[in-house]
Amino acid sequence: MGILNKFFGKNETKQVTHKSVPRHIAVIMDGNGRWAKKRGMPRSAGHAVGAETFRTIATYCKDIGVQYFTVYAFSTENWKRPQQEVDALMDLFRKYLTEAAETMFERGVAVRVIGDLSPLPEDIKNQISEVDKIADSLGENAATASLCINYGGRDEIKNAVKKIAEQVKNGEINPEDITENTISKQLYTANMPDPDLIIRPSGEIRTSNFLLWQSAYSEYYFTDVLWPDFKTTDMDGAINAFNMRNRRFGGV
Ligand code: FPP
Repeated sequence: MGILNKFFGKNETKQVTHKSVPRHIAVIMDGNGRWAKKRGMPRSAGHAVGAETFRTIATYCKDIGVQYFTVYAFSTENWKRPQQEVDALMDLFRKYLTEAAETMFERGVAVRVIGDLSPLPEDIKNQISEVDKIADSLGENAATASLCINYGGRDEIKNAVKKIAEQVKNGEINPEDITENTISKQLYTANMPDPDLIIRPSGEIRTSNFLLWQSAYSEYYFTDVLWPDFKTTDMDGAINAFNMRNRRFGGV
């Protein structure tokens, strides 16, 4: 049994009441700063507890059969935060990627990092390459946990447009042959289905540049719970709400 399972109660009784689980769940992990402030702690302490919540919820999602679990861990705008907070987040990524490299194979979860990784510190980029290789070796049927780091939906679409423009310039494709799929294939999420359910805790009701293209038909679930307080029962609540929705994808 992996150390994470020991800590996060893999064997505890689960209150699963949902009739089916979404194939892809994405989360905007919001409210860490407010959680810390309420306790007179530095914001970085909120992120550290938020990272624990990520581990618990990612494990839970895998256990109940969610195939893809994607979280917004650091946006293209988060570099504007105080350097100390940015450094603390980078350290959390280092720690998690070290653990992931050690435990992914045993746990059967492919960890992926998506976003514009070019400005990340070299050591983190090396860790990501290592984790990528292990994830590749797990095969296509493994559950996938994706961390979006230096991710921005507009930035992602802009980069996709640049690549397609380059292909047109090189005569590889004709403009009239560009389809929605041509664009989807150039996104960081090229190999995954669009999210079925996007959860935003902490009482904020906006998308904040997260998975803009991919969320066209996603169901949103908002809750006032701050991310560090988010429990497996909150995930059950979100999935139950999702199961009550009537998804028509533009049909009747
Ligand atoms: C938004 O809350 C959260 C972030 C900008 C960072 C999220 C990152 C983590 C939870 C750590 C991730 C690490 C791993 C290993 C997954 P906020 O700080 O804006 O909260 P506030 O709105 O209450 O200030």
